[in-house]
Amino acid sequence: PPINQQQVEEGNLWRSDCRVKGGSPGFKVAILGAAGGIGQPLAMLMKMNPLVSVLHLYDVVNSPGVTADISHMDTAAVVRGFLGQNRLEEALTGMDLVIIPAGVPRKPGMTRDDLFNINAGIVKTISEGIAKCCPKAIVNLISNPVNSTVPIAAEVFKKAGTYDPRRLLGVTMLDVVRANTFVAEVLGLDPREVSVPVVGGHAGVTILPLLSQVKPACSFTKEETEYLTSRIQNGGTEVVEAKAGAGSATLSMAYAAVKFADACLRGLRGDAGVIECAFVTELPFFASRVRLGRSGVEEIYPLGPLNEYERSVKRSVWRRQRRSWVEALIRVCPSQ
Ligand code: NAD
Ligand code: LMR
Repeated sequence: PPINQQQVEEGNLWRSDCRVKGGSPGFKVAILGAAGGIGQPLAMLMKMNPLVSVLHLYDVVNSPGVTADISHMDTAAVVRGFLGQNRLEEALTGMDLVIIPAGVPRKPGMTRDDLFNINAGIVKTISEGIAKCCPKAIVNLISNPVNSTVPIAAEVFKKAGTYDPRRLLGVTMLDVVRANTFVAEVLGLDPREVSVPVVGGHAGVTILPLLSQVKPACSFTKEETEYLTSRIQNGGTEVVEAKAGAGSATLSMAYAAVKFADACLRGLRGDAGVIECAFVTELPFFASRVRLGRSGVEEIYPLGPLNEYERSVKRSVWRRQRRSWVEALIRVCPSQ
């Protein structure tokens, strides 16, 4: 039968199956902000993920073109597009995993906190949609400032009575990806062999790479430690400055987001031993090493032995994070 333009822009025309061939369960994943700098490569990479059976691409602009484009890839996931706020609920209904890169990025000279006013509103609206349409979904929140947008989402879910700290995760995987890369450079290793836990938050000094816990076991000189800590903490700014006004990290972020989303999906599938760093809202410490399972975060690991520098950063992260939480509460529940 002939197809019309609307069918092309909204995605797959004939297939409605939600199972990946071969018997393994496929998951339904929504990307909100799918037409953006992160959203587009993220959509492409998620379309290539064999664990995804249905991929919903939502944005307030340009999602029809991205949907038409991505839907031509000959991989299993069924792709559907949703344009505009009045389609948000449809985009979210039935989703297992919701990935959120919606929001404005930094320009040179800005901090991530400068994005709070705009992005807090965007995340609040999206979180209200999630609470209503897919309260059991795992949420991967990328929009900055992560230190504040995750508390905003938590407060919206609490207000709606759907809050489950196991399912709300701020994505700090890019810090880990950078740490693995920079540490591997210093050690002269393949980055795929290196694992650096990064804890704390996702802004400047709150990004705390635990260089004392790098695998494979190694040690660094004082100069190496200072160089690595500073480079990892300022990786985002390095990209913002190199892009000179054209935005922040998008490609490495899409890569990191897919790595993290894939870990969440493997956890949902019931795979054992899926351990990553993520920003969580339960104690003990914001971005932490966590074990992912069928219900999201199933275990939060203690930080392990810290050196004096790491202990002092820990104290300042706590102070900053308390402020972010109060701001989030005021934003979501101004009367409290
Ligand atoms: P971008 O401007 O290229 O794309 C953002 C997209 O969000 C746009 O397509 C825009 O239309 C869409 N959008 C805006 N309002 C929306 C709404 N209400 N609902 C749905 N979509 C909406 O920006 P980008 O480079 O993709 O970055 C997105 C966000 O991710 C920024 O806040 C950035 O700071 C953040 N970021 C986080 C990390 C991290 O490590 N967590 C890394 C890089 C970027
Ligand atoms: C990053 O770390 O690259 C992101 O948080 C984007 C930014 O503004 O630095």
